[in-house]
Amino acid sequence: MATDVSGAARGRRFPDGFLWGVATAAYQVEGAAREGGRGLSIWDTFSHTPGKVRHGDTGDIACDAYHRLGSDLELLSDLGVRAYRFSVAWPRIQPAGRGPVNTEGLDHYRRLVDGLTDRGIEPVVTLYHWDLPQPLEDAGGWPRRETAERFAEYAGILAQALGDSVTRWITINEPWVVAQLGYRLGTHAPGRADPGAAAAATHHLLLGHGLAVSALRAGLPADRQVGITLNLTVVRPASDAAKAAAEKFEAEQNRLFLDPVIGGAYPAGLVRDLLVPAPELVRDGDLATISAPIDFLGVNYYAPATVGLRGEDEELRRGEERIDGHPGVVSITPTDRAARTAMGWQIDAGGLHELLVLLHVRAPRLPLYITENGMAAEDYVDPEGSVDDDERIEYLRDHLDAAARAIEGGVDLRGYFCWSFLDNFEWAEGYQKRFGLVFVDFGTQRRIPKASAAFYSRVIRANALPAPAG
Ligand code: GCO
Repeated sequence: MATDVSGAARGRRFPDGFLWGVATAAYQVEGAAREGGRGLSIWDTFSHTPGKVRHGDTGDIACDAYHRLGSDLELLSDLGVRAYRFSVAWPRIQPAGRGPVNTEGLDHYRRLVDGLTDRGIEPVVTLYHWDLPQPLEDAGGWPRRETAERFAEYAGILAQALGDSVTRWITINEPWVVAQLGYRLGTHAPGRADPGAAAAATHHLLLGHGLAVSALRAGLPADRQVGITLNLTVVRPASDAAKAAAEKFEAEQNRLFLDPVIGGAYPAGLVRDLLVPAPELVRDGDLATISAPIDFLGVNYYAPATVGLRGEDEELRRGEERIDGHPGVVSITPTDRAARTAMGWQIDAGGLHELLVLLHVRAPRLPLYITENGMAAEDYVDPEGSVDDDERIEYLRDHLDAAARAIEGGVDLRGYFCWSFLDNFEWAEGYQKRFGLVFVDFGTQRRIPKASAAFYSRVIRANALPAPAG
């Protein structure tokens, strides 16, 4: 029986003009790491350091997207997406992180942008998705203030080069991950485990965002939209006793980045002191720069967090994990495999609805885009040659339903970008974790759209969710 995609009855319609897209990031898909005049980034160095990335995988080849522009553009077009969110590799534009521009790098992104535009697909550009030029890390990296200034210079170069064709710009993707995983825990590039460096990185990433906003505004036509993407979550206490711990955890996850951007202040007192940038780092005017008006907030949502209390000496139960730096506090995930993704992340679409409503309360006038949402699954090509990723279809259906309900409830949500277009290099997890709508056989670079790609295309074409079967 044909699925009803009319959006009538039990299906959900999205507002006209809702921006449907898919997302990727340069280091995760491009490959061609030493071609086209590209310099090295911290992810090249990190992934080539033994023991850092599962299986020793690197982004040297990745999805080879750099060489497969034409066929990937056709795939995007077949998907029917209205927008493609990709990131520009800073080391392709400025191999040294400063100074001379590599025109070959700019030409690559011009071809991508033109190819998208020709097909009626809107390019959405992320300036920084974690691939800091290695020479800037060697000079101190994000803990050093100068990196924020270099980032603004790079933003200005791109505004000049792509400003005519690109309407929506995202400065930085998930500064929380950069500061916390890159500089405090060291599980991501550049692999430093230094809390002081992480707090300084937090401030300079945010300052870089603010300085880039003004560089973009100076270089772009007036109607261009500029925003930032944060990874945000809802935090639920497992019990009344865990409420204070949950609030603190939420502040560290969300407010440490959200508050300065939307309110011009760090949430001091709510988060551990060691995470808050030291007062001597924060110069006069910095917070005003960081909170300069933006046109939208990008939201990356994957899973909620449930926070509970345990006596410090008490054994952990199944599904519980200690939270680094929070003695006696645990994060709880369901032990049932069906309730988790291949990353081990809890599947809970209600969390997305809650998060969108929460953001609408905290930043009532700020339009929102879901710039990433999706799941990793153990996808494989079956003997018939297809990839039947039913659990991803269910995940998408439920999260899109949550998004639609939020819109019906008054949240100003303007678009949704599925993570990801292609299976790709999942950072420290290498190639094992597949997030794509399109399966990639990394040995041959063959692309096979999964069942979820067909599902997503139907949703986009109808601008509505299919009504549940039955
Ligand atoms: C993220 C990153 C993506 C990841 C995705 C899945 O922004 O965390 O933007 O690069 O691949 O989130 O973990």
